[in-house]
Amino acid sequence: MDQLLQQIEAVKAEIAATVATTHEEVENYRIKYLGTKGLVKQIMGEMKNVPNEQKKEFGQILNAFKVVAEEKLAEIQAGLGEGAEASSNIDFTLPGDTVPVGTRHPLNLVRNQMVSIFKRLGFAVAEGPEVEDDWHNFGAMNLPADHPARDMQDTFYVQEATETESAWLLRTHTSSVQARVMETQKPPIRVICPGRVYRNETISARAHCFFHQVEGLYIDENVSFADLKQTLYFFVQEMFGKEVKVRFRPSYFPFTEPSAEMDISCQICAGKGCNICKHTGWVEILGSGMVHPKVLENFGIDPEKYTGFAFGMGVERIAQLKYQVNDLRLYSQNDLRFLQQFKSV
Ligand code: PHE
Repeated sequence: MDQLLQQIEAVKAEIAATVATTHEEVENYRIKYLGTKGLVKQIMGEMKNVPNEQKKEFGQILNAFKVVAEEKLAEIQAGLGEGAEASSNIDFTLPGDTVPVGTRHPLNLVRNQMVSIFKRLGFAVAEGPEVEDDWHNFGAMNLPADHPARDMQDTFYVQEATETESAWLLRTHTSSVQARVMETQKPPIRVICPGRVYRNETISARAHCFFHQVEGLYIDENVSFADLKQTLYFFVQEMFGKEVKVRFRPSYFPFTEPSAEMDISCQICAGKGCNICKHTGWVEILGSGMVHPKVLENFGIDPEKYTGFAFGMGVERIAQLKYQVNDLRLYSQNDLRFLQQFKSV
């Protein structure tokens, strides 16, 4: 055992004499003494050869030895820190670089606000694919292949119909998501479908080949046109304030009967007349109507028992009225000067 004691003393002396001024030297010290195959481990391993009656005494000696080795490591590491700071030319008192913080896209801000208003009325959010088959986008919505109303929505086809497969296309409205909801859920159904849609339009200040919609669907017993009006009225008041005026105009959509478009008093000129409202004082913001019985039948929903209303509107249009954006293209040009203006709603 004396031999072991001598060894410990020798290693201690060695440790005391160690000088380390670089990272590499500190690391070499750590590996040599405290590494998994280091001297400390090795010497601690001798414990098993110590006779039982001496175990207690030796245990203390070995532990103290380990502490000496560890304290030396801490000491030379600290020394390195001080030295590094003193010899660097970094001015630690300089203010840091600011990290640029992004802002939400105006369309997301408005979409989120729209969603939260309808959520308060008990609407759930449903999403679906942007590449759709003909049935979910058109057929199920009472727009058979030769229906002239298909012209209302100029379509990007991804794949033409073949003898065995239907056509695939970029959805032209999120009514396709409503179709998927009716396919999988039973009434009562109360959903909104926010999402991007595509139409083959020439890009200009007023039209784009893609835009965003929030469509809504409510099916239950005894749902009436009055429910539709009140829901949409609540929505515009929450969105634009209590002073907003609304009017409904009769319209046509193959999937609703009767159908109506809704205008609100122009939020840009307060009804006095401007470019946005084409000097009428009114701006159309959505299409709506009572779900056509054929659409309900397409999904096995009994039109004698259930009725429903649906509506669809463009997020870009709502954002335009809210922020007075006069060119649709601004939304997708990624110009930071435009985007940074929308820090919050
Ligand atoms: N799907 C229609 C469109 O995109 C909007 C709409 C939805 C109209 C629901 C009536 C009812 O133009």
